[in-house]
Amino acid sequence: MRFELTEEQNLVLSTARDFARREVEPKAASLDREARWPTEIIAQMAELGFMGMAIPTEYGGAGLDHLSYALVMAEISRACASTGVIMSVNNSLFCDPVYKFGTEEQKKRVLTPVASGQKLGAFGLTEPSSGSDARTMKTIAERQPDGGYLLNGAKNWITNGPHADYIIVFAISTPDPVKPRHTAMILERGMPGFTVAAPDHKLGIHAAHSATIFFENVHVPKENVVGADGEGFKVAMSTLDGGRIGIAAQALGIAEAAFEKAVTYSKERQSFGGSISHHQAIQFMLADMATEIEAARLLVLRAASMKDRGVKHTAESSMAKLFASEMATRVTHKALQIHGGYGYSTEYAPERHYRDARITEIYEGTSEIQRIVVASSLLRG
Ligand code: CAA
Repeated sequence: MRFELTEEQNLVLSTARDFARREVEPKAASLDREARWPTEIIAQMAELGFMGMAIPTEYGGAGLDHLSYALVMAEISRACASTGVIMSVNNSLFCDPVYKFGTEEQKKRVLTPVASGQKLGAFGLTEPSSGSDARTMKTIAERQPDGGYLLNGAKNWITNGPHADYIIVFAISTPDPVKPRHTAMILERGMPGFTVAAPDHKLGIHAAHSATIFFENVHVPKENVVGADGEGFKVAMSTLDGGRIGIAAQALGIAEAAFEKAVTYSKERQSFGGSISHHQAIQFMLADMATEIEAARLLVLRAASMKDRGVKHTAESSMAKLFASEMATRVTHKALQIHGGYGYSTEYAPERHYRDARITEIYEGTSEIQRIVVASSLLRG
């Protein structure tokens, strides 16, 4: 087993770290406070190839590996978790399934502008009454004589939704009370009957706008169907196998940001005759935080490298997301505690990291769903 990054991965990492520290981090607090969509940062990330990192260059991507993608996701999220998830949804939840399951025509027409960052993608699976139990969605796609579908329903919590040019949407195409079949299709901004509500109000990741989207008799042409009729749920699930690596990397980045600040503050803050870093209570917290961060990093990189090698990584992605997201909650909690009253103040970053960490235990499958995925893989043998 090798633990070193390749020369190319190191170069990608240092480019991302430098960009994140110089261009993203200084804006993160105000983006959060104003819930401002980071238009200019997204344009800069597009120039750096960060919006379609693992997509081949012939389809507008950077032609890099998923491990590089995970490294960059952690760096961007360390600076600004909102910007991290915008990037993650575009890469993992839109570009990845269109590349894997889309037609050559879709790759040229839709994937190329999204992977190059000229256009933005989103992913529509969750509905008001079906989050964890995704299969029981209510959005219906009725087959039409021309091979297209008539789409009716709604999706909610759609990250990038208010700004996306394209959304890959999953709908029931063969209703059945026991085993409905689903189909995946690309919705385009401006299609008649497709509307987007105002952005949601959330605890954290304020700059990453999400919204409910509605479909009322939207005619989706057959050219926009992704994968085979009835195979949409598999498209969604295999997409989430990759997406969960992105969210695990986001959680890792958030934890690293909080940890870094906790170390600095502990050396500066004085109490009982010295810096608080001399207190064993603080040292034990820092040691636990560092150890958990390193454990999460290994899980994230292992899952990404399995994806790169084309090995089934469903359980490993879920393990990485489960551990990294719960770790981020623990680490940001401790970082806030180390900062004491200042940690609770919105003038300091730890409270933002604490709020931002929480969503990583929820989106792209709650911790409970990750445990189900891991357990069912173990029990299948
Ligand atoms: N890859 C490919 N196919 C898969 C798969 C995978 N990883 N996992 C399951 N499938 C296939 C199965 O083989 C099965 O196929 P058949 O119908 O042909 O037999 C089908 O999918 C159904 O599988 P299950 O019976 O296991 O499905 P289930 O109904 O029991 O649900 C679940 C499984 C894991 C709980 C799933 O519903 C799930 O992941 N729920 C969580 C949903 C989720 O993560 N939502 C996130 C929304 S996106 C988001 O959050 C974005 C954002 O904001 C940033």
